[in-house]
Amino acid sequence: MSIELLKASHVTKRFGALAAVNDVSYTLREHEVAGIIGSNGAGKTTFFNLLTGLYTPDSGSIHYRGTDITRDTPQQRVAHGVMRTFQLTSTFDNLTVIDNLVLAFFRAHRKSSLLQLFLNTCKQHRNNDKIAEVLETFDLRDLRDREVRNLSLGEKRRLEIAMTMLAEPKVLLLDEPLAGLAESEIQAVLAILRRQVGQQTILIVEHKLSHVKEFLQRLTVMHEGRIIAEGGYEECMNHPEVRRSYWQIDVDAEAAAQAAP
Ligand SMILES: Nc1ncnc2c1ncn2[C@@H]1O[C@H](COP(=O)(O)OP(=O)(O)O)[C@@H](O)[C@H]1O
Ligand SMILES: [Mg+2]
Repeated sequence: MSIELLKASHVTKRFGALAAVNDVSYTLREHEVAGIIGSNGAGKTTFFNLLTGLYTPDSGSIHYRGTDITRDTPQQRVAHGVMRTFQLTSTFDNLTVIDNLVLAFFRAHRKSSLLQLFLNTCKQHRNNDKIAEVLETFDLRDLRDREVRNLSLGEKRRLEIAMTMLAEPKVLLLDEPLAGLAESEIQAVLAILRRQVGQQTILIVEHKLSHVKEFLQRLTVMHEGRIIAEGGYEECMNHPEVRRSYWQIDVDAEAAAQAAP
């Protein structure tokens, strides 16, 4: 068995009276590509924010390789290698794809201050090997000199993942990477994610299950703050609790109908 990278134990997060995440225990192992699914309001994003450090749980703990990171800030978790994707801000919008990658590379490797980069070093590093490799892997070569504000949402999403990968994360966390994308863009993002399978530990939180099911090795289904099923796709989808709450199938009526002569 590969090692446990990220482990949440009995984690609860409340907003007022609502337990958005309710006593959730979850383990992500090295090189695993896993997914958490569930209907809107299930608690997926809240759990994601607990893992990445945006929120601190009211109770329970989170460990990274056996180290307690429950109270670590997002920055401290990034230093361990637990990273969510960059969310491109307006500051980066006026720069080209290649310059965003250069900035992400230097931010990750702390080789230079951002100011210094803006002043003189961006041009020198546009041909950095690691960046060239990422341009290739994430299908960004043709977009290299395009300003980010002129990219489609799908192209931006690819750039966000590429920028994150330059920091060589140990665990890549993605919250709804396909949200808002057109079908062709979904395929492009999936293509680059598939290339990471087997090399990178990835946890995807996703509402659109149909798109990600074929490369997720393990699924976890959340409902009303709790994990209601875990395992392979078929196993989860056939789980009575999932059929009831996720698909809203009337399992009892179905069973009664089957039992009837
Ligand atoms: N910052 C917040 N303040 C209050 N309630 C929140 C907050 N974030 C999420 N919630 C509530 O917690 C529940 C879970 O939300 P969320 O984690 O976003 O679910 P999901 O990502 O599965 O759709 C929802 O009922 C939502 O309204
Ligand atoms: Mg969400």
